[in-house]
Amino acid sequence: MKKLVLASGNPGKLREFGQLLAPFDFEVLPQSAFNVPEADEPHITFVENAIAKARHAALLTGLPALADDSGLCVPALGGAPGVFSARYGGDDPKSDERNNQKLLAELAGKSDRRAHYVAVLVLMRHADDPQPIVTEGEWHGEIIDTPRGAGGFGYDPYFLVPGTGKTAAELPHEEKNRFSHRGKALAQLIERLRAGM
Ligand code: IMP
Repeated sequence: MKKLVLASGNPGKLREFGQLLAPFDFEVLPQSAFNVPEADEPHITFVENAIAKARHAALLTGLPALADDSGLCVPALGGAPGVFSARYGGDDPKSDERNNQKLLAELAGKSDRRAHYVAVLVLMRHADDPQPIVTEGEWHGEIIDTPRGAGGFGYDPYFLVPGTGKTAAELPHEEKNRFSHRGKALAQLIERLRAGM
């Protein structure tokens, strides 16, 4: 099996990517297994941050690397929280609750409640790869004021999924994975791998 390093410390992502990429003869290993520290995410677009993370992991391990970057974009807020989604309510400490409270405060009095999640995946064969595989998924919905559901994470209890009457936090796990921004980006990555990496 070919080794592939995942530029993330998230065990849920490791399991999911590991299962989906095994048929392509990839053994997905966390960057922590190689003592790779988390890369900075200094950029203002998802794709730049995902490329920076993948390149950092590939450079320090000498292996192909996979990275993702994701967040919530709200048109009425000029695309915020965007790449700052994880730390929108402040860095110290990061908290979903604080992020959500800030989102609701910023949206107070605004009638346009549309929002979409974005996920970008980057697979780099090596640190100098001039043509990494880049895929992107979006998931559109709207922000409600009262949280519902205990599943998911982050902004999910406030993210109403059109046509379901449910928030992302009320959807069963498999259903969220099928419709979500990450699910769509991953499905595209798999297609690209099938077509030949
Ligand atoms: P990361 O790309 O896993 O670091 O996620 C960035 C941030 O975007 C998370 O901390 C969440 O605040 C938000 N986010 C990304 N994907 C989701 C999702 O599926 N549900 C809820 N929040 C999300």
